[in-house]
Amino acid sequence: MIKSDYDNDSYNKLRDEILNYISNQSSRNPKQKRRFRHMLKTEEMVKKTVDNLKGKFHIKENCIRLAALLHDITKDYPESKQRNILRQIKIPKEDIMIKGLWHAWTASEIARTKFKISNRYILDLIRFHPTGHKNFDLGGLIFFISDFCEETRTHTGVEEVRKLLAKDVKKAGILTIKFKTGYLINDNAYLHSRGINFYNRLIQEGVP
Ligand SMILES: [Fe+2]
Ligand SMILES: [Fe+2]
Repeated sequence: MIKSDYDNDSYNKLRDEILNYISNQSSRNPKQKRRFRHMLKTEEMVKKTVDNLKGKFHIKENCIRLAALLHDITKDYPESKQRNILRQIKIPKEDIMIKGLWHAWTASEIARTKFKISNRYILDLIRFHPTGHKNFDLGGLIFFISDFCEETRTHTGVEEVRKLLAKDVKKAGILTIKFKTGYLINDNAYLHSRGINFYNRLIQEGVP
């Protein structure tokens, strides 16, 4: 994991590029417009939470904000387009099996190829955003929770997680996993081992 964050100038330049690209892509598509708004709101929730921590922890805020702006960039791609990208990269079998995770891998690939992001920290945040990862640091955890509870989200548990996030990030993380896992179990869906390992890490060791 890299120690330094993106500097403000590189962040601002890249942010403008990403916003231009996404607004062009979504200009005539209402579904993509909603997705664009979700990514902006995830970024906003990350910022709000980091501000709330008042510099008490070292957080790579610019990296996390870039990951937030890119994480669902391919979610509305048709399956054939997702497959074409997946064919060019190495991805674990368990992730291939779960179609809902494909967009995380393809978004990370677009971040790498289209926006020339080689920063492993950002690419991993994007790649692992649906499940979380046992190596996520505090910033990664904030991003994972913000994706779940940004202010346009309305699903069950959102209010509760939002309130908790302002007080205790670790508890908000565990609650987010509980809600997300609960939806999957209700649907008799497969639980990815990465999500379970992430949960166990938080329960046993807390947030690094
Ligand atoms: Fe996603
Ligand atoms: Fe998302």
